Parts: sequence; C-alpha cells; structure tokens
Amino acid sequence: MTTQGQPDHLADLVIVANRLPVDRVTLPDGSAGWRRSPGGLVSALEPVMRANDGAWIGWPGSTDDLDLEPFVEDGLQLVPVHLTADEVEEFYEGFANGTLWPLYHDLVAKPEFHREWWDSYVQVNQRFAERAAEIAAKGATVWVQDYQLQLVPQMLRELRPDLRIGFYLHIPFPPAELFSQLPWRRQILEGMLGADLIGFQLAGGAANFVRLVRGRVGHKTHRDLVYLPDGRTVKAAAFPISIDAAGFIELAHTEAVQQRATEIRTALGNPRKVFLGIDRLDYTKGIYARLRAFSELIAEGLLDVEDAVFVQVATPSRERVEQYRIIRDDIDRLVGRINGDLGRIGRPAISYLHSSYPREEMAALYRAADIMVVTPYRDGMNLVAKEYVACRYDDDGALVLSEFAGAADELRQAYLVNPYDINGMKAALMEAFHAEPKETTRRMRAMRKQVVDNDVTAWANNFLAALADTRPDHDKTVRPARRR
Ligand code: F6P
Repeated sequence: MTTQGQPDHLADLVIVANRLPVDRVTLPDGSAGWRRSPGGLVSALEPVMRANDGAWIGWPGSTDDLDLEPFVEDGLQLVPVHLTADEVEEFYEGFANGTLWPLYHDLVAKPEFHREWWDSYVQVNQRFAERAAEIAAKGATVWVQDYQLQLVPQMLRELRPDLRIGFYLHIPFPPAELFSQLPWRRQILEGMLGADLIGFQLAGGAANFVRLVRGRVGHKTHRDLVYLPDGRTVKAAAFPISIDAAGFIELAHTEAVQQRATEIRTALGNPRKVFLGIDRLDYTKGIYARLRAFSELIAEGLLDVEDAVFVQVATPSRERVEQYRIIRDDIDRLVGRINGDLGRIGRPAISYLHSSYPREEMAALYRAADIMVVTPYRDGMNLVAKEYVACRYDDDGALVLSEFAGAADELRQAYLVNPYDINGMKAALMEAFHAEPKETTRRMRAMRKQVVDNDVTAWANNFLAALADTRPDHDKTVRPARRR
C-alpha cells in the first residue's frame, strides 16, 4: 500500500504515540508479522481511528526494523518510527523512564538528570513531529500521547501551523515543587503549549500545569486557559481515561472466560476468598508493601492460607532500567520468604506470576477474584481497577484502591487506602474480606454505573469534541466514534 515510505493517503486524524498499537511476532510459517498489543491506549483509540480512517505513528518496540514502511494491519494504518539502540537507551529507558517517570510519580524513585538523555529526547521528539507533519492532511487533527512526546506539539506546530493539535498526558502531572527540579522544565512546558488542548487525567494535574506556565514561562492564564503572546489560547483540562467497558462485560460473560475462572479457583484449591493484584512490574505500583500487608495478616493468624490466597500477576516491564531490576529482585525475594515461612504443601500464601496475559485470561482472573487490590503510590488512572469493576456483572466482589490512583476520584465506593500505611491497608483488606454481600453489592453497583457510563469511547469523543471547540474557525472536524 505504500510508496517511498508514505501511506497511500494523507490522514485527517493522526495519533502520535511512543508505541505502535501492535507487537512484532513470529508467524507459524516463520515469517515476521504483527499482533495487536493488549495495552489500554490501543483499545482507547482504536474506535475513533476506525471512525476517521486515521493513521497511528509510533515505535514498533525494537531496534532492528530498520526498513519499516507504513503498513495496514487489521484495518489500521500504521506508521513506524525507528529508534536506534542508543536512542532506546537514552530517550526511552533514559529520559522517559529514568527521568520523567519517577519525577511525575511523586519521586517514588529518584529521577536522574543527564544532558545526553535530554538531547536524545529532543532528537526523537523531532523525528515524531516530522513524521506527523508528513502524513497529516491539510487542517487535520493530530493527537499526541503521553510523557515520551511532550515536545512534539510545539515542534509540529512550527512545521504545520494549519493543524489542530491535541496533547494528552496519561500519567500524573506533578506539582510545581517537584516539576521545578527538571533542568529542562521551561522547554517541556513550551513543548506542550504547542497544542490547542492539553488533557490530563485529573483536574489537579491541569491546575499544576497552568500554575507552572504562569510562574515559569510567564504567560497570562485564567482558570483553565493560557494566553500566548502570538494570540493563541491553549486550554488545559481533565479528561479521565477509561476502558472499553462493554467489551470487558461481553468477554466476562463468555462461556470460555467463566469456565476458565472456575478452573483458576479450583487450581488455587477453592479457598474462601481470592485476593488479586495485576500490575506492570513497576516500583510505583506498591506491590511490595501490599504483599507484606497480606503476609502480616497470615502471620498474625487473622487470615489462614486454607481460607485466603493472594494471586499477584506482575507483567514484565522496562527490564533494562536499573530501578525495575531492583524492584523485581525485591519482590522475588519477598514472595519466596512469605511462601517459605507461611505456606503449606499445596497452599502457598501468594501465587506469583511474572508474566503478561491476554485479555481473556485477565477477564477470567477478574471473575475468579473476590477482592481486587490496587495500591499504587501514585498512578495516573489505573485501568485494571476499572476493568475489574466492569467484569463484576453480578455486582459482587470488592475493590481495595489506593487514594493516590487517579481512579480513586471516580471509584469513591472502593475500600480506599493510603499505600504508605501498612496497618491501614491491613485493616482495609480485612474489612473487604469480612464484608457482607449487601455491602459489597451496594459499593460495586455504584462503581459499575460510573465505569459503564464513562467508557473509553466517551473519553475519546469528549477530548476530540473539546479539541474541535478550541478552534471553531477550523473547517475540518473529526467524527466521533460510536459507543458500543
Ligand atoms: O501509562 C504509561 C505508559 O507509558 C503507557 O503509555 C504504556 O502503555 C505503558 O505505560 C507501558 O509502558 P512502556 O511503553 O514503557 O512499556
């Protein structure tokens, strides 16, 4: 479908994200192919892409796809951006995940500031901006995603002033007191201001941003608006992301998922209650403290391994980054010690799985679990919490949720915890364990309504409608995706 690296037509909607929504796989005949990746962002944006015949620009996730041309996969037009091995190290593992990630997550780990990482970040952002400028039709809408690409809006505006540009940050935006540590703070703020609309998970993130722009860049602001000297107005507002709720509900109802959920419980020895954690293996997720809290309840005799098991799925992530290696080793050791000290034959206290699973298996785990435990120290949203809620179509099950996850703003009926407070977490786990069905149903029903009424299609449509409103003079408007 391509000639000289160009897609067959220019796109009216361009998504620019660090990753393509597909993973490289080896097909049964030995050739290389693609498979849709299971991530939340893909399911979030796919419907609106299809409704608008859009294009998606991103990194294919490896360094050896040098000659990749734009291609169509499963009806999606995909445009790969190549990263060299040095860029993966300095831009992706370095500046994105060694500097910005910890800085934006409350300094849960110490961010590192290296000038060569920053140079690589600028260079890679420029490449993404150039690719977007090449494939966007006149007056198109370009929607840039996340912390890896915060300079793209401004770079793209310089190349293509005709475009309508949106930017969405999926992770928290920190308060000025933390953000101000960044040696390149002004460049990042100016990079984001290239967009017409800047979306955040929570109103607090938008307010942090506006305050920083006023203080550090010196632009005039009023509420959620920033007035630039060139006459442009930029809006910064909250658009809490969500999940494909209908898709998860449908999946949870399937015979295969229900059967698999029963199998999982049987394999666990049919304990009275199954606790579940599912996270990327990241130090922000609070996995270590959560497992400690659970193990103390067993050690103290408040829970018994005959009655309760904790299934912890930790999806491998960013494994070449030092902090991720450390947390993995720490959790390995902790799980070994807990099971060694507290388990019995055929009854480990913790069933630990260092692996990633397809959506079907996730849905089966959600169906099998009585108590879902989501306790990050800081999290932009946390879609696992919403997926669990969606899958509990009988309004049963309990959610223990960190008050520092973005999802806590919406899921007020969860058992909310401070993940730094081990005793508080232990109390919440016990409260959820002993809760009367009437109480869990009351809570779950309210949370399910919230998740079903505010799904990911509504999120994308709301953002794109607000983006269209920022430039009413613009002739082209993106068509909303249909809700399921
Ligand atoms: O939530 C932040 C995020 O970076 C997403 O953009 C991404 O899907 C996920 O975490 C996984 O991260 P990575 O792309 O670094 O594997």
